[in-house]
Amino acid sequence: MLDLKLAGGTLVTESESFRADIGIKGGKIACIGLALPESRKSIEAHGLIILPGGVDAHCHIDEPAYGGARLADDFRSASRAAACGGTTTIVPFVNQLAGRSLRNAVEDYHDKARASLIDYAFHIILKETGLAQVLAELPVLLAEGYRSVKVFMTYPGYMMGDRDILDVMKTVAQGDGTVLVHAENGHCIHWLSDRLEAMGQTSLSAHAAIAPPVVEREATHRAISLAQVAGCRLLIVHVSAGDALEQIEWAKRKGLDVLAETCPQYLCDAIQMGDGETWEDAKFICSPPPRAAPDRERLWQGIASASFDLLSSDHCPYRFDGATGKKVLGGAKPHVRTVPPGLPGIEVRLPVLYEAGVVKGRMSINRFVALTSANPARLYGLYPQKGSLMPGSDADLAVWDMTSPRRIAHAALHDACDYTPYEGMQVSAWPVMTLSRGDVIWADGEVSGDFGRGQFLRQQAHRSCPIDR
Ligand code: URP
Ligand code: ZN
Ligand code: ZN
Repeated sequence: MLDLKLAGGTLVTESESFRADIGIKGGKIACIGLALPESRKSIEAHGLIILPGGVDAHCHIDEPAYGGARLADDFRSASRAAACGGTTTIVPFVNQLAGRSLRNAVEDYHDKARASLIDYAFHIILKETGLAQVLAELPVLLAEGYRSVKVFMTYPGYMMGDRDILDVMKTVAQGDGTVLVHAENGHCIHWLSDRLEAMGQTSLSAHAAIAPPVVEREATHRAISLAQVAGCRLLIVHVSAGDALEQIEWAKRKGLDVLAETCPQYLCDAIQMGDGETWEDAKFICSPPPRAAPDRERLWQGIASASFDLLSSDHCPYRFDGATGKKVLGGAKPHVRTVPPGLPGIEVRLPVLYEAGVVKGRMSINRFVALTSANPARLYGLYPQKGSLMPGSDADLAVWDMTSPRRIAHAALHDACDYTPYEGMQVSAWPVMTLSRGDVIWADGEVSGDFGRGQFLRQQAHRSCPIDR
């Protein structure tokens, strides 16, 4: 006897779409077919589309304050918002507090994540200081399933030099992990920023001017070269510019172990600031900066040609109002140096990408599943437990109504931020029901399921989950 049956829906995987029922037992997908055994409960899914739950492998939740600014979401609100947008697994970052060990930081995040509604794994963010101790701690953590480590080539307090990056890459490679790189040349950004400030250009429009595509292109190519020298698997996160993508495509052609991620904010026309003179434009400040239409088009080409391996939100929810978010240093007008970078997006990631990608004919719905669920699960060692509709996989499902258009409004979202940069965007479809390990956690506009039911996921060694290009 099954615990639950979803009957009459259309199943969509990364490779095919077909009509079938899904049987669930013990939180796992037990069977798929048209003549399933009896079930204690049944959910009618005629006319609905069933996808594997989304895997959002880049989100910032409850991290330490940055220059006085704090993220709005804790694990409760972020996991709730994720579930309401069809995401069933998140991979946020463990971010170290100065002077504390990595082990302490990991323990802190386990405490914080105890409130999660959905399952989670962790990446680890490294800072520039205390690297010797961190390198000593990393091998054990990698072996325990924290197999993805992010380093920054910019941001005060985080920016690492090449030699340190090489040391990190070697250590991570030995632990069968992946290094994630924020690829922007921080020296160029600071130099350009000083020059523009000296000329009085401090409005938010300067954000794109101090971090132009060349700054991302150089850092991307350098990261690729460093990873080649160290023999490390590399993932370039939040790629925004066509020139950076070109470096990644070059690396892939060479057969290097280089992967690439981009995010809705770099693909969608909705992400457009005005003249940069008003606070309203702070809602579009993230790093790297969103680019103009030609770069967006180039990124879509990269999606079509399989140059990108995954699409993540880079959810980084600084509130717009109040003293702990975008306006942390206040002022009548925004100053480019004082606005913390980052956009909220964990709940809208899937509907926005579905609209901009599948509805607009830029990718198939199967490719959408690959980039937003199966591939992130694979490359972070969570597949086929996550990202799959196979028997034996966790029954993590997103049930979509493709005939329920709506306008995105922050008032209807579930995060703890106070705006969405997609306010007013029209989308054709939304996940109307989300199941996590067989439990309905979002249906008919209501969140259900106990906070704290989410489970920690150890990342398996990536050799067991190769990405099929
Ligand atoms: O602006 C961004 N992307 N903020 C989040 C931190 C990061 O670099 O991913
Ligand atoms: Zn970054
Ligand atoms: Zn990020």
